[in-house]
Amino acid sequence: MTRATGEIMLDVHNVSLRFGGVKAVTDISFDIRKGEIRAIIGPNGAGKTSMLNVINGVYHPQQGTITFKGRVRKAMQPHQAAKSGIARTFQNVALFKGMSTLDNIMSGRFLKMHRNFFWQLIHLGPARQEEIAHRRKVEEIIDFLEIQHVRKVPVGKLPYGLQKRVELGRALAMEPELLLLDEPMAGMNLEEKEDMSRFILDVNHEFGTTIALIEHDMGVVMDLSDRVVVLDYGRKIADGTPDEVKSNQNVIDAYLGVAHQEKSR
Ligand SMILES: Nc1ncnc2c1ncn2[C@@H]1O[C@H](COP(=O)(O)OP(=O)(O)OP(=O)(O)O)[C@@H](O)[C@H]1O
Ligand SMILES: [Mg+2]
Repeated sequence: MTRATGEIMLDVHNVSLRFGGVKAVTDISFDIRKGEIRAIIGPNGAGKTSMLNVINGVYHPQQGTITFKGRVRKAMQPHQAAKSGIARTFQNVALFKGMSTLDNIMSGRFLKMHRNFFWQLIHLGPARQEEIAHRRKVEEIIDFLEIQHVRKVPVGKLPYGLQKRVELGRALAMEPELLLLDEPMAGMNLEEKEDMSRFILDVNHEFGTTIALIEHDMGVVMDLSDRVVVLDYGRKIADGTPDEVKSNQNVIDAYLGVAHQEKSR
């Protein structure tokens, strides 16, 4: 069985999202299969980030449903999404800049910590055990991402490429089943992009994590993804393998700006 024919993990059905008069996403349906890398592409303002925000519960669509692991929802809260196994990174790095790499990645574990703070105060022993287990997991992620040398460095002092890597680390610390990456390589140089591509593939292969990836670099999209969904003006204009999408006339037009010019006439 190829990865693109695995069982459906996430199903987006007829989702529409408006902000006042702005239609960010209009009647979009697509699915993400277990184990695949699914790219979401499209020109600026196409609705890609909005779509991720619907999937992880930040935005609640006016229309449509999201089915994750067989459970149908009209909307959920971000913490419910996190608890059910969805983690994400952001288009603009969203880390605690004054905190170290280690502490930032550790913050991804908080959602995993079952004991509350008061309970920890009166049962220091078990809480300490739990903390040790979390630390071990975080150190594993730091090794995996090859950022041992900056463990104690405040992330605000790190080069941008490494900050993006730390943010990936924080998402991985949640041990997600579905990882949403919003432009993980934006602003990177070629070498940093190659490193990030390798880490994304390794996460997918070694941990079996299903990945939804927003990315503007077509070379990266074509190399990494199993299937691609293409948005333009909030609508889905194509869906298929990288080769299918690349030769789709609607996609070519959208990227050349043909549709945009016609609409403004
Ligand atoms: N919180 C918001 N309030 C109002 N309008 C919004 C909001 N978020 C997004 N939009 C609008 O929705 C549309 C889609 O935006 P979105 O950020 O989803 O696009 P995108 O495909 O991620 O673009 P980019 O490639 O530039 O990141 C745009 O017209 C945008 O201005
Ligand atoms: Mg975006």
